[in-house]
Amino acid sequence: MTAPHLLELKMRGLILTFLILGTLHKSFTVINGEEEFKGDYKKLSGIIIPGFASTQLRAWSILDCPYSPLDFNPLDLVWLDTTKLLSAVNCWLKCIMLEPYNQTDHPECKSRPDSGLSAITELDPGYITEFRGGRKGDVFIGHRWDVVRELQQQAGEVVESREKWRRIRRNGDNGPLSSVWKEWVKWCIEFGIEANAIIAVPYDWRLSPSKLEERDLYFHKLKLTFETAYKLRGGPSLVFAHSLGNLVFRYFLEWLKLEVAPKEYMNWLDKHIHAYFAVGSPFLGATETIKAALSGFTFGVPISEGTARLMFNSFGSSTWMLPFSKYCKTEDKYWKHFSDKGKEAHHAYHCEEEEFKRNYSGWPTNLINIEIPSFHSSDAYPSVLDVMENTSMECSLPTQLSFNAREVADGTFFKAIEDYDPDSKRLLHQLQKSYHGDPVLNPLTPWDRPPLKNVFCIYGVDSKTEVGYYFAPSGKPYPDNWIVTDVIYEIEGSLYSRSGNLVEGNPGATSGDETVAYHSLSWCKNWLGPTVNITRTPQQPIPL
Ligand SMILES: *[C@@H]1O[C@H](CO)[C@@H](O)[C@H](O)[C@H]1NC(C)=O
Ligand SMILES: *[C@@H]1O[C@H](CO)[C@@H](O)[C@H](O)[C@H]1NC(C)=O
Ligand SMILES: *[C@@H]1O[C@H](CO)[C@@H](O)[C@H](O)[C@H]1NC(C)=O
Ligand SMILES: *[C@@H]1O[C@H](CO)[C@@H](O)[C@H](O)[C@H]1NC(C)=O
Repeated sequence: MTAPHLLELKMRGLILTFLILGTLHKSFTVINGEEEFKGDYKKLSGIIIPGFASTQLRAWSILDCPYSPLDFNPLDLVWLDTTKLLSAVNCWLKCIMLEPYNQTDHPECKSRPDSGLSAITELDPGYITEFRGGRKGDVFIGHRWDVVRELQQQAGEVVESREKWRRIRRNGDNGPLSSVWKEWVKWCIEFGIEANAIIAVPYDWRLSPSKLEERDLYFHKLKLTFETAYKLRGGPSLVFAHSLGNLVFRYFLEWLKLEVAPKEYMNWLDKHIHAYFAVGSPFLGATETIKAALSGFTFGVPISEGTARLMFNSFGSSTWMLPFSKYCKTEDKYWKHFSDKGKEAHHAYHCEEEEFKRNYSGWPTNLINIEIPSFHSSDAYPSVLDVMENTSMECSLPTQLSFNAREVADGTFFKAIEDYDPDSKRLLHQLQKSYHGDPVLNPLTPWDRPPLKNVFCIYGVDSKTEVGYYFAPSGKPYPDNWIVTDVIYEIEGSLYSRSGNLVEGNPGATSGDETVAYHSLSWCKNWLGPTVNITRTPQQPIPL
């Protein structure tokens, strides 16, 4: 087994996408020299597992939208047709939201994931640019014109005018992430992998892992995809996963343990998977998940934060990327499966001593600081203002509670705000049923190195990334009842508040990729064996 290759990228512009692929190119050559795959590259297949919100969903219903000229008909795009969304948001919500407890479709409209390469929105030119709005790129890219200009100058390229750059962004061609994927596909083809050997395995990213299997037989189909690729070409596959796609792939590897005979497991992996490329994986979860669950996160889609919150919290996948502690585990489901099948599962976390010796569960800071009223009121969600205005209640000023990653993942946080938030019961239900209680794997536990021949870990560093939040009641009704009053960012080895003040804590060596904290992205460093090969882009200082 070769050591995993690790690639930390200082990703600030379009040009870097090419550096990444150039580096992969080299690393791959190295593997070819030392690994047993000496065969014909024509025999390889490339399997792409996209990230959260990166598969197109299409309507499988006929839905009349009153007061709107646009209705939903079978095969109409639901995720993401912004025209329909803007013209009939309530109608659109019927098609995209799920019943929060049992993950069933709305009685009037249901949506299903599209299939094939074209279903992956990340490959759709411009989709991400449009979709991510003002954000500086998902994994790889800065949208800022001055940054792009600098890189273009460095590369000796023609420098675009600011106007042209704006126009490119507006028209949505050249979506940065889509070009990374396209480059990867191109790279595969240059290697001699047949164009039609690149296979996408899109999925319904709204579902929890067990529902993916139960409703769509997703993991079953994924296994067949590998087996079919092998039959067709006579060689193994290269897996390329992005963001949530990595957690999906992890679940698949655990699911497979229960699916094939124990003796066959390693043989199956060796035969079908030559290399795994983990791109921008939230190995220990993503802090932004908390913001999405409490105050809404629009992903640049033209909806209000409240609507985004309603939508997100209806998905079983909403707690899949919750941040958790690397020191806490639950019992191994695999061994449990064989030892006491019938027993009612007990899903408590067992934490190492380290969890209690260290602050913040090993993260840079507490993930949540939240003001909640210090009394139980008949007024369901009193705002800070209501409480403050009541002069006779000096001793009932709101209290601020703080929660670390363990307390977020084990449900302590959602229990603490249960009386003040209508969504927390549902989130707690999903968390317990679909994650802690999952029969295959509790995904909210640290991932050991998967037993694959070659693992490449690729992520961006050195961008300003959110690592903690301050919330307070907003005084508005649900779903807008929480407001973010401050944010803690990590920037190149320090922590800052939104106002720019230095914050104490436990910052990492560098910062994350803008979406996921460095602490989580870099977890795969623990997989490094003695024959480590860390590759960095040329301008990158050693972040160890
Ligand atoms: C690491 O990778 C570099 C470049 O890809 C290569 O030159 C070097 O030999 C590799 N080292 C090991 C130990 O694999
Ligand atoms: C799911 O929940 C909804 C709302 O509570 C209910 O109407 C529906 O029958 C449930 N479906 C299943 C399959 O349990
Ligand atoms: C944890 O926090 C406390 C109080 O802020 C501090 O005194 C202590 O040194 C911290 N411990 C570690 C291991 O950082
Ligand atoms: C203000 O205080 C009174 C008496 O203590 C109490 O009955 C009332 O509910 C309080 N109002 C609010 C908005 O908390």
